[in-house]
Amino acid sequence: MCGIIGYTGNNNATPILIEGLKRLEYRGYDSAGIAVKNDKVVVIKEKGRIDNLTRSVEKINPQGTLGIGHTRWATHGIPDKTNAHPHSSMNGIVTLVHNGIIENYIELKNDLIENSYEFTSHTDTEVIAQLFDYLYDGNPITSLIKTAKKLEGSYAVAMIIKDYDDKIFAMKKDSPLIIGKGDNENYLASDIPAILPYTNDCYIVNDGEFIELGKDNIKVFDENGNEKNIEIQKVQLHSDSAQKNGYDYFMQKEIFEQPKAVKDTILPLTPNGKITLPFEFPEKFIENLNRINIVACGSAFHVGVAGKYIIEEMTRIPVNVDIASEFRYRNPIIDKNDLCIFISQSGETADTLASLREAKKRGAFTLSVVNVPFSTIARESDGVIYTNAGTEIAVATTKAFSAQLSVIYVLSAFLSQKKGLMNETEIKKFTDEILSLPQKIQFALECDTITKNLAEIICQKQNVFFIGRGVDYPLCLEGALKLKEISYIHCEGYGAGELKHGTISLIEDGTVVVAVATDKKLYNKMVSNIKEVRSRGAFVIAVVCDDAENIKEFADEVIFVPKTIKHLSPSLTVIPLQLLAYHTTVRKGLDVDKPRNLAKSVTVE
Ligand code: G6P
Repeated sequence: MCGIIGYTGNNNATPILIEGLKRLEYRGYDSAGIAVKNDKVVVIKEKGRIDNLTRSVEKINPQGTLGIGHTRWATHGIPDKTNAHPHSSMNGIVTLVHNGIIENYIELKNDLIENSYEFTSHTDTEVIAQLFDYLYDGNPITSLIKTAKKLEGSYAVAMIIKDYDDKIFAMKKDSPLIIGKGDNENYLASDIPAILPYTNDCYIVNDGEFIELGKDNIKVFDENGNEKNIEIQKVQLHSDSAQKNGYDYFMQKEIFEQPKAVKDTILPLTPNGKITLPFEFPEKFIENLNRINIVACGSAFHVGVAGKYIIEEMTRIPVNVDIASEFRYRNPIIDKNDLCIFISQSGETADTLASLREAKKRGAFTLSVVNVPFSTIARESDGVIYTNAGTEIAVATTKAFSAQLSVIYVLSAFLSQKKGLMNETEIKKFTDEILSLPQKIQFALECDTITKNLAEIICQKQNVFFIGRGVDYPLCLEGALKLKEISYIHCEGYGAGELKHGTISLIEDGTVVVAVATDKKLYNKMVSNIKEVRSRGAFVIAVVCDDAENIKEFADEVIFVPKTIKHLSPSLTVIPLQLLAYHTTVRKGLDVDKPRNLAKSVTVE
């Protein structure tokens, strides 16, 4: 979703802004723009990809050592040139970019119109510019504080102001903003990868802070306008993972990186083969633990649903799973004896972050499973387990999903052991099996060819169904999401036993049904469900462990994955499901990495 970049220094800002925007592309956007200041402010904006913007920028070739840039993912107002950021105020006092949503913008806009302000766009962002202009008292920081007091909603705002030739001013609430410190130059961005080529020295801005960013000083003020002392921290991230390394798409690369992503995630949690968490629960917490709540969005939610099956069976602790956008508003029953787990690749998802804050308010112990270091969710949780999947660029998550699953296994084993439900031998067997997953995932990736062939069939379909039971069911939700979000083929993930309560009426001649059946105890039930759909004309692709030999009698096509113990099968079954989605989308000639309308990091609700 929207991205921000800013630069002040001695070099021409334009190429730095464009490079920064390119590095923010993966977040998802539909228009982009920059503002560069020399004697005057030059604003260039375009609908669509950064390449469109680059073409216009090359024609105008703006020169200036101060600038801000933005990728916009439309919320208020269609994605077009007028609504793209930066926005300037009517009197030209300020030009700004904004991430987030201003919820009271209509009310503010009406007041400003009464005060003779004229608006050119349909955005909520323009209201911030006009309001700042209206409240401007000659002092940027006090004017920003006054502006912030009137705004409701979330924002990270970066602005250049008419009378200041080498300074960016900024503020934030509930939307990430970081500062990068260089030598006689400073940067500002909505996330770290945008500035990594230039510096590793960062300051992560907190809510309610107001920033004056000069080329050789960084000033941070609190809500009363008092200057604060700040500490710059070194951020160690690899900036080279944003390359395709010979793969056609980032999604393909990330699918094939899964053995490494899982290995890098589980090794730090299992030093010397012993399960060790990187944080401590409060004393007696596990003894008194009543309930676990898992809260997440999108694919991370599916990890949560799989987590419910696994954790409940291994620990006998009840687990609730919620979509974050529901959890935060449903007045959940939570107290200090609850463990709330927040799963998020980006660590910035607005609903997941708000849910974390809600759970903290109610006294629960909050644990986050996060991929992006220094992200807000990671920083605000009581405990963090990092998935070390590396930078994930494709909008549709793959390697972060697998890394999240492996954290769930480790956590389940840890809690089970603490509750005395697994003895040392059982724990060792389970841990050894977790440690064997990277290699088994490598074998599972050999289904690349068969999934590519099957994509020839799937790409012609309008509907695809994914059915499974037990822990295979959440994997069906994930398989369906993956395929539909990037190939635009309608898909549904269903509990196989639930199909006959409605959805089976949609099965007709040639409908593709992907049946995931890894659980021995439920295998015969799955065979019955496969027969039900096949007798109604379905073309069945079965995904099973490599010991399910007789499956060939019942399915049209079979994809085998390596056998593992019951709870760990999601790590292997997800591989063919991801590859089916990937190859089908390539076959349809669509942009695998940037599906329409979607964003990688969803920082608004
Ligand atoms: C977006 C992405 C999904 C992701 C979801 C949650 O919708 O497209 O791939 O699963 O957000 O994001 P998070 O960063 O919290 O895991």
